[in-house]
Amino acid sequence: PAPAAASPHKLDSLKRPPPNGTAGSPAPPKKRKLVVFDEEAEQEAKERANGAGEASPQVNGNGGVKRRAAWGPEQKRKAKEEAQRLRPEREKLPVFQGKDAILKGIADNDTVIVLAETGSGKTTQIPQYILRSEIPCAGPRIVCTQPRRVAAISLAQRVSAECGTQTGGLVGYTVRFDNKTSRTTRLTYATDGALLAEMLGDRDLEAYDVVVLDEAHERSLRTDMLMGFLKDIQKRRKEKVRAWKAEQAKSKGKAKANGVVANGEADGKKSAEERDPTELKIVVMSATIDAKRFSDFFDRAPVLYVAGRQHKVKIHYAEEPQPDFLDAALKTVYQIHMRYPPGSILVFLPGQEEIEGLAASIKSFLPSLQKEYPDAEELLVTPLYAKLHAAEQAKAFLPSPPRTRKVILATNIAETSVTIPGVKYVIDCGLAKEKRYHAGTGIDSLVTESISQSSAKQRAGRAGRETDGFCFRLYTEATYNGLEKRSQPEIQRVSLTFAILHLLASGQDDVFKFSFMDPPDVESIKFALLTLIGLNALDKRGKITPLGRQMAQLPLDPVYARVLVASFVEGCPREIIDLVSLLGSKDQLLINTSSTRDAANAARQKFVHRTGDHMMLLNILRAYEELDGKDERKQWCKDNFISFKAMSSVLDARKQLLERAQRLKLGDPDASAGDEAEPVLNALIGGLFANTALRQEDGSYRHTMTKQLVAIHPSSTLHGKKAPAIIYDELVLTTKTYARGVSSIEPSQIRSKAPSLFGSSLK
Ligand code: CDP
Ligand code: MG
Repeated sequence: PAPAAASPHKLDSLKRPPPNGTAGSPAPPKKRKLVVFDEEAEQEAKERANGAGEASPQVNGNGGVKRRAAWGPEQKRKAKEEAQRLRPEREKLPVFQGKDAILKGIADNDTVIVLAETGSGKTTQIPQYILRSEIPCAGPRIVCTQPRRVAAISLAQRVSAECGTQTGGLVGYTVRFDNKTSRTTRLTYATDGALLAEMLGDRDLEAYDVVVLDEAHERSLRTDMLMGFLKDIQKRRKEKVRAWKAEQAKSKGKAKANGVVANGEADGKKSAEERDPTELKIVVMSATIDAKRFSDFFDRAPVLYVAGRQHKVKIHYAEEPQPDFLDAALKTVYQIHMRYPPGSILVFLPGQEEIEGLAASIKSFLPSLQKEYPDAEELLVTPLYAKLHAAEQAKAFLPSPPRTRKVILATNIAETSVTIPGVKYVIDCGLAKEKRYHAGTGIDSLVTESISQSSAKQRAGRAGRETDGFCFRLYTEATYNGLEKRSQPEIQRVSLTFAILHLLASGQDDVFKFSFMDPPDVESIKFALLTLIGLNALDKRGKITPLGRQMAQLPLDPVYARVLVASFVEGCPREIIDLVSLLGSKDQLLINTSSTRDAANAARQKFVHRTGDHMMLLNILRAYEELDGKDERKQWCKDNFISFKAMSSVLDARKQLLERAQRLKLGDPDASAGDEAEPVLNALIGGLFANTALRQEDGSYRHTMTKQLVAIHPSSTLHGKKAPAIIYDELVLTTKTYARGVSSIEPSQIRSKAPSLFGSSLK
């Protein structure tokens, strides 16, 4: 059928009775060929065909690599009950109304765009609808992407509960360093990065029949890369199916001529590898109304619009520009509290520092409020930002206690990725911290910037989820009118080293010809190519080397993948695998709030190493590992202001990295340098040689190649100490260019350990 014009439809107007069994749901109980991978799925599919309703819980899953613990009858019964209990709630979600129309849209088109407000049920419900349909074949295998790992995991858990199954059974997840899927899994929530990694072994993503690209409006680097790849994959798979069908017809004809009976029923026993080729369906899901660009990119794919439950939000602007937005936010919180009816207040702030600052000042005014207005409700302040540990984050989602108004101080994670119940007021400071990358210097930094109009609208919308609400913008209407219409996609803001290596490893030979929805800056691509050449991942002509292929298969940034490879040469893979795993959770690992900073530093003094921050992290892990038992470890973490949860993810990450290193046959991953720091630092230089600076005569440090001034960040244990040269994890731009995660090295080490001709390859 000709692609429909790309105009948003109300789903109500799209609602038609399902045509004879093509997209109706639940699947009509007619006799049909079952395409299944193993007995469990077969059983389940049979139940569905017999109209047994929701999928049954997984029994003793013989899951691919790991064997899952058996679920007893009691657990199964409980899970079923819970699924029943959740059902009415699910049927109240806005997308439920549009279920048939969405399924029909997907059945009739290769690609569809689904638009609905955050909280409508897109992510949890739509993949389930597809699961119970026959799109594009009986028993479709679905993957739904998420930009964030926490979201992928919690969604798999939630949807498993809704299905009454064990996580990792019918519904599972795959994220970097963690995989909970089995051969029974038919719906996988995956981070966009994990799906990209899968493409290295399964170029056309034949493990899936439907790819749901979720949170597309966020335009994360990896989602954008997937969009480019998926367009080509869809074409190739269409062609494959066409060729296969022609082949089938030919051989059937031959078989008949030879008097052999073709046995179609045998298909039912086919394993995953032997499945007949299917076409690929793409569903793009987005929260904001920027649908036309997605539609245009996917050859004018139709857009389905789910009418949400959005209530009216009255917008107030500041009458004049506010010199101090924290002060303005404080006043606004109190104004709302004194003059407006009950309802939680959600304040959007750039980052942790501002959140802590405002929390302190709100609290400092509470006593005088209570004195002057003894009848006023209480105020409860709850912070919400990505680095905050889960238990604290959870408080923001709890209902307000009686006679209490909740004030949630959040970063832009509350913009689209989570929904906080009870919010009636939004205060928007108009700023956000964004990752920015400067090609040429190679600095990836977090900078506070003005948000776009589309972000501002999204923020305001958060006030109208349940009732009419109010949004107070701490900037003027003129300022709003001057904001960019939409945020710049990440691909135009961050380092492309990972992206370019991945494109080359996936067989995209000319990276300049890749179909980017918004092409990145040519200079950034060139800089990434030069960096990769410097790491020996590419040869001088820009062709990927065997080393580059190995690096692409490691779930690490190319720079750290190179460090890991170098560690085998330096004889310290054990330390580097530990260190890289630690660095993966670095932001959550050490708990640093302004109130506990001094106590934390004192407690952690015993881990300090003369060479700096990297060896200190290793010391922390070593000390942790010497403890027995969960309780002891938990207490130790508390005493030392270290996150127990982050520590657990470090250990998970290490396990995965070890497995990967073994699979890639990089060498003996247990080889160790003992307590020696030099080999570890040498291996670091092997990948991070562009993150080095030399001490100058005046005591300052200058970047080894660009000669830019670099200061050691106050959070580093080397702050205020002298080192002949330094190596660091990252530069952050605030009042100065600061190096974070710093170790002391010798200039001669840089010269001998940097992988390629120093100085000439970069710059
Ligand atoms: O994707 P979208 O924002 O449209 O909605 P969703 O994530 O599917 O969420 C629909 C509803 O499911 C939310 O309003 C939550 O009440 C619930 N939910 C939950 O309870 N736990 C989760 N981990 C995710 C969603
Ligand atoms: Mg969602």
